[in-house]
Amino acid sequence: MAHSTTGGRSKRARVRLEAELTLRDWGPKATTTSEVSGKRVLVDRGIPGERVLASVFRGREPLQGSVAKVLEPSPERIAPPCPHYLKGCGGCQIQHVAYSAQIRMKQRLINQEMAAAGLSCSVDRVWTMRSPWQYRRTAAIALGWEAGFRPRGRRGIVAIHDCRISHPLIGAFCDRLNMLLAAGRLPNYHAKAWLDCTVVDSRDAPALQVVVQAITGLTLETHPELGQVAATLAAMDGVGSVAYRHRSGEVRPIIGDLMGTIRLAGRSLCVPAGSFCQTNLEMTAALLSRARTLLEGRKIGAAADIYGGIGTLGLSLANLVGSMSIIELDPRALEAARRTAGAWGLSHVRFVEGHAEQLVASAGKLDLAIVDPPRSGLGDAVIAALIGYKIPLVLYVSCAPTSLARDLAKFRQGGYAVKSVELFDFYPQTYHVESLAVLEG
Ligand SMILES: C[S@@+](CC[C@H](N)C(=O)[O-])C[C@H]1O[C@@H](n2cnc3c(N)ncnc32)[C@H](O)[C@@H]1O
Repeated sequence: MAHSTTGGRSKRARVRLEAELTLRDWGPKATTTSEVSGKRVLVDRGIPGERVLASVFRGREPLQGSVAKVLEPSPERIAPPCPHYLKGCGGCQIQHVAYSAQIRMKQRLINQEMAAAGLSCSVDRVWTMRSPWQYRRTAAIALGWEAGFRPRGRRGIVAIHDCRISHPLIGAFCDRLNMLLAAGRLPNYHAKAWLDCTVVDSRDAPALQVVVQAITGLTLETHPELGQVAATLAAMDGVGSVAYRHRSGEVRPIIGDLMGTIRLAGRSLCVPAGSFCQTNLEMTAALLSRARTLLEGRKIGAAADIYGGIGTLGLSLANLVGSMSIIELDPRALEAARRTAGAWGLSHVRFVEGHAEQLVASAGKLDLAIVDPPRSGLGDAVIAALIGYKIPLVLYVSCAPTSLARDLAKFRQGGYAVKSVELFDFYPQTYHVESLAVLEG
């Protein structure tokens, strides 16, 4: 074992040792697990079964490490195609793993979470991408003296010039941002500000909705340079609109229209700058098609899409139900849903603004609840109300297997059966995973 330190001038220099390790199993966030001197270590960029030379940082258990050299590679190891991945970009974690093995890893992860929550169900079906690249239509680009993504496990920014998992507009935008920063035409925000970007479909070509945000929030008074920054960004190729997130949380337009549209399964949905938008539209269409198959042939009167956002799920499935309520906290998203419903001629949709936890009880007796909560999962009040009303069918869309398993266990205690759990690979090359669980009461 060799020892060294990093960050020599920093008081918090991290002591590092090099160790030859056998990687055992997948750990959290696509790390692999091993042991150093009797301590558990989580190693980045490995694959279970491999023998590697790893850099391991001393600290609290579990220790953190990263593969420095592969001594005995797994047959599932491939050469990552992205140069930024090799520089430690934190946007992807498993580019070095063959796509079929990525899927097996995610499937196993969901099954483990289900088992840990005491559930006997496992992934019944897997939906993958034909080409697992260029799928991301949203990105948060950090701004410092360079523009790019956060590195994995350390501070700073990895300057990005092209992003293999994103829509080409996003990589090209990063590249041009870096040129402007190098020329001193944009301020250095020291990684405390970032640009939230969404690719929307304007009439002629795709365009970026850009929202400038900062850790401390922004106002035009505290950041008088914002107007000039917005003008510079708006003049860039591919940028459709520029807005900023005010310290209050409100998104305010600077240049261009706040409302854009995306094309999903052949139809246009309105998307406001700064609101949640599904990043992988190909897989969202696959999930919708699956949900449609699950609902067809059933007689469904009242339905609700809880945590409904811009109505991606609820509006797309509304023609299969008697009435649909979209319950959502973000007023801009709900306004977009209202506009989309108008354009689609849907008159049997209600729009309910506020906290799902407070509103779901007033949704009353439903025949179907669609829930698509943030990573934290469903609030207890939502689960209690759905169980209390004995809603016969719940479609649970989740981006977090741990909270999904926890919530499914609560439904099961409330008398529900988990009919199926399906994996939709919305986020190839990353550890993130989307799933759809079907519950019957
Ligand atoms: C994962 S997104 C899903 C959005 C939508 N289903 C879609 O596919 O576009 C979660 C949504 O829940 C909303 N949200 C977060 N917390 C909420 C709460 N307590 N009550 C209602 N909506 C909430 C967010 O604003 C966001 O739009």
